[in-house]
Amino acid sequence: MCGIVGGVTNKDITALLLEGLNRLEYRGYDSSGLIVLSRNNTFERARSVGKVKNLEDNLKARDHKINGNIGIAHTRWATHGEPTINNAHPHISMNSVSLVHNGIIENYAELKNDQLTKGYSFSSETDTEVIAHEIDFAMKACSSLISSVQLAIKSFSGSYGLGIISSKYPNQIIAARNGSPLVIGIGKNGNYIASDQLALLSVTKKFIFLEDGDIAEIKIDKITIYDLDGNLVDRPIKISRLKLGETNLGDYDHFMQKEIFEQPQAIRDTLESRISNDTVLISAFGYEAHEAFNKAKQVQIVACGSSYNAGLVAKYWLEDIAKIPCNVEVASEYRYRRPILLNDTLFVTLSQSGETADTVEALKAAKKINSNITSLCITNSPESSLTRLSDLTFLTHAGPEIGVASTKAFTTQLVALALLTCSISSLKKSINKRQERGIIHGLKRLPGLVNEALLQEKQIENLAIRFKDKNSALFLGRGTMHAIAMEGALKLKEISYIHAEAYPAGELKHGPIALIDKNMPVIAIAPNDDLLVKLKSNLQEVKSRGSQMIVFEDENSKVQQMEAMEVIPVTSNLGRITAPIIFTIPLQLLSYHVALIKGTNVDKPRNLAKSVTVE
Ligand code: M6R
Repeated sequence: MCGIVGGVTNKDITALLLEGLNRLEYRGYDSSGLIVLSRNNTFERARSVGKVKNLEDNLKARDHKINGNIGIAHTRWATHGEPTINNAHPHISMNSVSLVHNGIIENYAELKNDQLTKGYSFSSETDTEVIAHEIDFAMKACSSLISSVQLAIKSFSGSYGLGIISSKYPNQIIAARNGSPLVIGIGKNGNYIASDQLALLSVTKKFIFLEDGDIAEIKIDKITIYDLDGNLVDRPIKISRLKLGETNLGDYDHFMQKEIFEQPQAIRDTLESRISNDTVLISAFGYEAHEAFNKAKQVQIVACGSSYNAGLVAKYWLEDIAKIPCNVEVASEYRYRRPILLNDTLFVTLSQSGETADTVEALKAAKKINSNITSLCITNSPESSLTRLSDLTFLTHAGPEIGVASTKAFTTQLVALALLTCSISSLKKSINKRQERGIIHGLKRLPGLVNEALLQEKQIENLAIRFKDKNSALFLGRGTMHAIAMEGALKLKEISYIHAEAYPAGELKHGPIALIDKNMPVIAIAPNDDLLVKLKSNLQEVKSRGSQMIVFEDENSKVQQMEAMEVIPVTSNLGRITAPIIFTIPLQLLSYHVALIKGTNVDKPRNLAKSVTVE
């Protein structure tokens, strides 16, 4: 979603703001802008629609350079108001306050009416401009910038991550967080703010993670943080484990491609130190996990997008293997329902970013409904909102995922869920030692199996051309493969803009089979499992309606090759746990190559943001 970067330094800040924006561009990017306080304490602002590159060109084309030691910058993903220069951040009020904002101010219309009567005018259609005016108005009654922000913030309902500067207080930035992530970076030449550590890795590895309600006054030599009630608070400094190089493309053309090929290592890293003597170390989920898993009588999983698809796979595993009832629901629905949550529920959130607003709010709602539940988050982001809100945390060690389409985050979530299934199964004795060993051996084989699956790339690339002029595609699978088919369909939609749907293969005859003709490619997944015979007859039904088919199979499935049907053996001897993870790989490759043929922006598909931190 939108990105924020800012700093107070003893050097010129403009280059760092641009570098930070470039690193944040993957989050949201329909426009960008920056503002600095120049030497005579006046604002100098530049804003452009489109990529950060356009902002760079805008700055280069100016007669005089925009520079100063204090500045804030933003990449915008439009919520209120179209992507135009006027709607791009930073916004300014009365030449005294300027700010960048992530989140949504829900009562902005009401505030705007009030501010119009006070003589303020508006140059944008955003919900953000009211924040700047409200702070400017508060400054009339307050003696510092921070007290003005503290006063103004009382009128906002909604979510915000804010970076604020003022021409009247030219030595500081105010940062405020409520529902939108914000970190403070502590550097050698100054102090910084950003919505994501990645933006600041070139200047620091030391970060303070603000909590909801925090308001911080950031000067070059001092950082002071208050909570929402105005109490001074001490937030710990953490050293980031992220490496700058991890966010570079290296030899790859796209981050998505790089991240697909990083999966063997990401899975290895996620498994590392989580298994000992062929047993899952339950403490990998937190010190209290043992007791919590023992107590759990049902599991509720809540997530969005790919993370939701991973949850659907886990439902099969938890019920089939651990013999524990499991429900899975999309967070945006769950958060507004009045669900029944029993005391002994293990409430699991899945999220790459740990910041998805719907998932965070669903967890908060669940805790309100029943404070006795134990919450576990499985995330790729330490220090995220979800880790802070959850009783237990399992970190997938996928490394930064920059491509908007989730790849290695998804497969490592499945690995985490497999470890969870194994832990609960062994605690509840739903599997014996031999079965546990079998699962663990399967998990250890995964990096090699993923490498084998990646070898099919050339063949998949050759098939991708078939999608060039197609408007729709159907993905079929049964059991866990239905969830993997959903993930394949989501990937194709996201990055190639081809409409795609996933169906449980047995459900086809109840309606969707009417869609099938030679223009509707059908992609099916055929593992060698109990449902293979059923799946084969479903494939016959599709075939006889003239569809062009691609079947990804386990070598032992031996799906009969027919005219207009391409059968691609992915690898062999896959089990219940390994199969869904491995069959994800060809689907990722297929969507990647279709997107290349369609010429779309693979890493930054239109209308999408990496981390959806607003509703
Ligand atoms: O960070 P999260 O895992 O919570 O994100 C959830 C979804 O927004 C995300 O999976 C989205 O669907 C991806 N673009 C899928 O490729």
